[in-house]
Amino acid sequence: MKVTVVGAGNVGATVANVLATKGFASEVVLIDIKEGLSEGKAMDIMQTAHMLNFDTTVKGVTNNYEATAGSQVVVITSGIPRKPGMSREDLIGTNAKIVKSVVDQILKYSPDAILIIISNPMDAMTYLTLKDSKLPRNRVIGQGGMLDSSRFRYYLAEALQEAGYPATPTDVDGMVVGGHSDKTMVPLASIATYRGIPVTQLLSKEAIDKAIEATKVGGATCTKLLGTSAWYAPGAAAAALVEAIALDAKKLIPCCVYLDGEYGEKDLCIGVPVILGKDGMEKIVEIQFNDEEKAKFAESVAAARNTNSKIGDALK
Ligand code: LAC
Repeated sequence: MKVTVVGAGNVGATVANVLATKGFASEVVLIDIKEGLSEGKAMDIMQTAHMLNFDTTVKGVTNNYEATAGSQVVVITSGIPRKPGMSREDLIGTNAKIVKSVVDQILKYSPDAILIIISNPMDAMTYLTLKDSKLPRNRVIGQGGMLDSSRFRYYLAEALQEAGYPATPTDVDGMVVGGHSDKTMVPLASIATYRGIPVTQLLSKEAIDKAIEATKVGGATCTKLLGTSAWYAPGAAAAALVEAIALDAKKLIPCCVYLDGEYGEKDLCIGVPVILGKDGMEKIVEIQFNDEEKAKFAESVAAARNTNSKIGDALK
């Protein structure tokens, strides 16, 4: 299995690093436009191979798309990250052109690849990729829900600890749907559990709302602390998607995919629970939202459509 990661910045390099340590890929190609960056990061990762005991070859290249040929899965992290105070949507003017040109190049050499989009604003970049490439929708998947759900578990575990339960994030199950956006992502508290117990039985409404709000601005909170956007969790989230596809794991993961009638929506890409396997997005799972979540999901859809309407101008 050959995987390409486009963009050797913090997120791209973390994806390559996590993929290498998981060891299921024979080759990971890391590609960037900045001379030497991919080569240096790939070399650094490869020099951990002995200590971390993996046999994956990580290869770094500068702008040489030929080296990516025959990749089965391609993760696209290209573009600029946000700075403190910026929204993901603010990046569209710069990132739309970059993502479009990367997708064109990638498909020239790996026409059968499944694409995982991370570049922000991710839901709009996934939609742009799907429309521009005309690929079937199972092969264009945006990563946002995995990351946001992981943040939701983290904040719920913190809330449970404060309420006297010794929870860690792995004790908690929770899902975030909707757009990967500070204002409009939708953490689904109604189905979140602590080892099978609904968190609504253990936490006050106030504590749950606090966890929801913290999750929504989870990325912005890291950006404020770091001066640039986060990378460990976004990188691990993308690697988890690659793993589910590479191993044909049929895992249920919230991902950004194209809706064609599911959840009553058409012609946009947004986060919903899907099954990931060797064909990419193999099934959209439709679940019941409560009334509040339904209204929030509708707001999220409207916001995603609004961002999509700016893609045309961004490409000019
Ligand atoms: C985040 C960015 C990478 O949520 O979207 O951290």
